[in-house]
Amino acid sequence: MVSKPNRRTVLGATAGAVLTGVFTAPASATAPASATAPASATAGASAAALAETSGHVTVHSPNGRLRMTVLIVNGRLVYQVVCHGRVLVAPSGLGLDLAGLPSLTSGLAVKSVARRTIDESWRPLWGPDARVRNHAREAVVRTVHAASGIRLDLVVRVFDDGVGFRYHLPAQAGLDTCTVTAERTEFALPPSATSWSLAAGTDWNADERHYRRAQLSDVKTAQTPLTSVTPDGQYIVVHEAALIDYPSMTLAADSTRPGAFTSELISLPDGTKARLAGEFSTPWRTLTIGDRPGDLAESHLIENLNEPCALADTSWISPGTYVGVWWELQRRHTTWTAGPRHGATTERVKQYIDLAREAGASHVLAEGWNTNAGGQWTDQDFLTPQPDFDLPEVLRYARDNSIGFTAHNETRGFVDHYDRHLDTIFARYAELGIHAVKTGYATKFVLGGVNRSHFDQEAVRHYQRVIDTAARHQIMIIAHEAIKPTGLARTYPNMMTSEGVAGMEQQNHMGRLGNPPEQATILPFTRFMGGPADYTPGVLNVTWDPAALGTRVQTTSAAQLALYSLFFSPLQMLADTPEDYRSHPGFAYLKDMPASWDETRFLDCVIGDYTVAARRKGDTWYLGAITDEQDRTLRVPLRFLGPGRHRAEIYRDAADTSWHDNPLPIDIRTTTVRSSAVLTLRLVAGGGTAIRFRPVRS
Ligand code: NOJ
Ligand code: CA
Repeated sequence: MVSKPNRRTVLGATAGAVLTGVFTAPASATAPASATAPASATAGASAAALAETSGHVTVHSPNGRLRMTVLIVNGRLVYQVVCHGRVLVAPSGLGLDLAGLPSLTSGLAVKSVARRTIDESWRPLWGPDARVRNHAREAVVRTVHAASGIRLDLVVRVFDDGVGFRYHLPAQAGLDTCTVTAERTEFALPPSATSWSLAAGTDWNADERHYRRAQLSDVKTAQTPLTSVTPDGQYIVVHEAALIDYPSMTLAADSTRPGAFTSELISLPDGTKARLAGEFSTPWRTLTIGDRPGDLAESHLIENLNEPCALADTSWISPGTYVGVWWELQRRHTTWTAGPRHGATTERVKQYIDLAREAGASHVLAEGWNTNAGGQWTDQDFLTPQPDFDLPEVLRYARDNSIGFTAHNETRGFVDHYDRHLDTIFARYAELGIHAVKTGYATKFVLGGVNRSHFDQEAVRHYQRVIDTAARHQIMIIAHEAIKPTGLARTYPNMMTSEGVAGMEQQNHMGRLGNPPEQATILPFTRFMGGPADYTPGVLNVTWDPAALGTRVQTTSAAQLALYSLFFSPLQMLADTPEDYRSHPGFAYLKDMPASWDETRFLDCVIGDYTVAARRKGDTWYLGAITDEQDRTLRVPLRFLGPGRHRAEIYRDAADTSWHDNPLPIDIRTTTVRSSAVLTLRLVAGGGTAIRFRPVRS
């Protein structure tokens, strides 16, 4: 049931002049008296048919909380989204421009509408929840462009937690191939909403920046996800799902309509957007809609809009934590390149394998393990180890300790070469028993002989070839500097995790600013909406700076532990060094840390201020709470715990801990609680608390 009063559909004050009045046609067609009833409820089935043939198609979410209406206005497909009876997305235009053909933003007429309900449950191989319900109402609105005869379908799915819609070009004569020159999808969002986003960019690190907070009407461009909250507390995220064979979508503000955005696809080098062949479906354009921040972070809408698993055998895919020669490189203690301070030596990687065993981790990463890496990047074979790295011996030692080896493939943007040799490289890895690869595309992206955006259609095709080739050779992928996630892991679950985030690395590269503490309170509701991120948390020695770079991790040590409940990754790093872990009491919390969960709850969250989340694996819960640059006291009811008594192991900032001056001390204590308890958490600025709850068996 809806929890707020139903209202007749009215246009938002922001609706553009052209579209004004569009949704104020007869109530039987467009404005049901009850938001929970189908459009036809007041007038019966024939009215629904009438409404649809006259162009209005309304799709209600299963519980009636949301509805999306699609119709033709002046020959253009237009949609609107209503939540709790109030307009959330005002009338917004749709359409595509194809080279050499009339624009599909006018001259369209609805030919037919097909409806169905989807209701299924599926079990992800890994994820924040062991079971996912995919429950939506769907309508396929089939249109035809009168003058050219081109057919264009709009597929709409309305869930209780948002909507997805995509264009579909059916197979048709004269359209065997075509070139998209623009996608003209609009999102007329409430202009007074507060938003969090990254500026749109074609650069390799456009997703590795800090989220800005701004009133939507002040946002000029954005990457997706773009997250916002209206003044009356409605949360909405614009993103996309199933980004396959198409460029990434960014958003550009409509200068004539505050709060309204138009899709801006990343261009190919020649300025066009996408080359399509045959029948084609674009990625879904998604609006995740919630009443509280937690509704966003807990939503599975993006994955549900992806196809089920395409791999017949997934027995070789397994989530886990990993350690590796990485942070010491980032901190310039050791080097990627050969020489006296080379990091990935046989001995050193064995030490990390020992650490992995101690930590209950499943994998060890070694960056700078192969020749050329870190020096000459061209023509790497990704197979020849550096002279002081005995690959067979490391693999033997790893195998004897039941630890998998993760090969680092830093292309440095020489993608043509990598792409050509993928099959050979991955086939050899499989022979050697290597089943995990971390890819990297730092700075450029030369593919097809051209340095292009990391996010254009050809780049997206490359990342897909990596996933497909890897799957054939039973290899799991961790991708850095690649495309933002759009839920593809449902279909290709060897696509474990990707970067697309200002992760731990940026504590170093963003100078003394690092990642300001508030960023971590924003990420679960922005970047993580698309899927897992390889943020690489878990640095406990947050001030360690051997190279005197003048940088450090901008949190307390305790806050690092809390991140494991907030940031999801099925290959989740424990990023610190063996020495740092062994000398810090907080390491005990990270031992046997799960990387896939049975259940996830985002509890008390104010985006940009603080975040509290709890994840369950079996009968053990892990709660994480962090705050921004302010001290806070939070009260957390433990209702999520099961019956009986639970032993709570609490890792929190000590009384004298402070993010700036004394970030390392952790106070560890245990207590026994029941689900009726309410914990009081005192968080220091930049700090956090992590708690493991295990049932007490008596
Ligand atoms: C950037 C990646 O994000 C980082 O994890 C890696 O260590 C460096 N490139 C070097 O390849
Ligand atoms: Ca990076």
